[in-house]
Amino acid sequence: MTSVVHAIVGCGRIAPNHADGFGILPDVELRWACDRDETVAKAFAAKYGIPRFSADLDEVLADPELTSVTVSVDHAQHAAVAERALRAGKHVLVEKPFTTRVSDARAVVALAQQSGLVLSVISQHRYDAVVTAVRSWIDEGLLGTLTQASVVQESYRDRAYYSDYWHGTREGEGGSALINQGYHSFDVLRLLCGDLTVTSAASGALALGDVMENEDTLAALLRGPNGLIATYAITVTGTVEWRTRIGITGTDGSVVIDIDQPGLLHFCAGSAELLARAETLRSQLTVEPPPGTSYYGIGHRKQIAEFCAAIVDGTPIRASATEGLATIELIDAIYTAAGQRP
Ligand SMILES: NC(=O)c1ccc[n+]([C@@H]2O[C@H](COP(=O)([O-])OP(=O)(O)OC[C@H]3O[C@@H](n4cnc5c(N)ncnc54)[C@H](O)[C@@H]3O)[C@@H](O)[C@H]2O)c1
Repeated sequence: MTSVVHAIVGCGRIAPNHADGFGILPDVELRWACDRDETVAKAFAAKYGIPRFSADLDEVLADPELTSVTVSVDHAQHAAVAERALRAGKHVLVEKPFTTRVSDARAVVALAQQSGLVLSVISQHRYDAVVTAVRSWIDEGLLGTLTQASVVQESYRDRAYYSDYWHGTREGEGGSALINQGYHSFDVLRLLCGDLTVTSAASGALALGDVMENEDTLAALLRGPNGLIATYAITVTGTVEWRTRIGITGTDGSVVIDIDQPGLLHFCAGSAELLARAETLRSQLTVEPPPGTSYYGIGHRKQIAEFCAAIVDGTPIRASATEGLATIELIDAIYTAAGQRP
């Protein structure tokens, strides 16, 4: 018997990663492609061999066998679509960022908890081999007490990217460089450092202000456990489509990694044990062709497998909804510090 019957709601850029992730799992049927533009839903269903398509979310949610939905629409609608699905009794996997308003995310988490339904927010780079390895080295104390962390990300987007109905708009995207492209490296920073608080932030539309209402460049200073000092910087100006560097320094060792495709360990210093772990990791890193845009990576597969396992037997999901909530709470605090929130 098929234990998971799934629908993808929003058949745009990221939807192929969901079609791939659900499509490769046994005992999972990807049954519906839903997009408010019916021609998009129909074409997506045909391309990925999905048996049913619709422009009407209510028709999809009325399917009594449907267990779950992906919410991969624009940021501003994440909360409303997730809420409709949860109220229809469906488990929900929502794309990042969870929502544009923290209060909406809290309400959706509460609804899922009351309903006993699985809710997860995509953070595929938490599943990158280099990220999980560094997280375990930190847990084992191999880096000692963390003192410093830094992230630099460049993710150039051309003007055409901001010409659709939602990118670059205050309402539709809820911010730009940080909450959209920077979300990934920022969430990994949170994963590696633990609880962070915002000290200060600055942002501006330095090059793309003619096509966006939000920031194209942002930097923040944060504090973490034991006084750790973290700096975070993202820009969607420049010429580089995707480049990340995440550095973590502790009293006993330091690493520099990326979450590009594939994620790499660029630098490691510390004890003989840490260097041996680094060597093992480097020998194990493999290049798997990603199913969608290259820098989206392959992590959706692992998170989707965890999501389906959670539906079937309650296995915990590493990229939980509460983690997704904590990340947007901190992003909201950065925007407030930068003067981008009313
Ligand atoms: N995890 C990643 O690496 C990654 C990469 C890209 C995008 N994303 C995220 O995925 C989400 C979607 O982004 P995208 O770039 O795929 O967007 P997109 O604009 O390419 O696609 C969105 C689609 O949703 C449809 N839609 C809008 N409202 C709808 C509704 N109410 N019901 C049904 N369909 C609706 C639109 O017609 C469109 O086809 C965003 O949250 C984005 O941040 C994540």
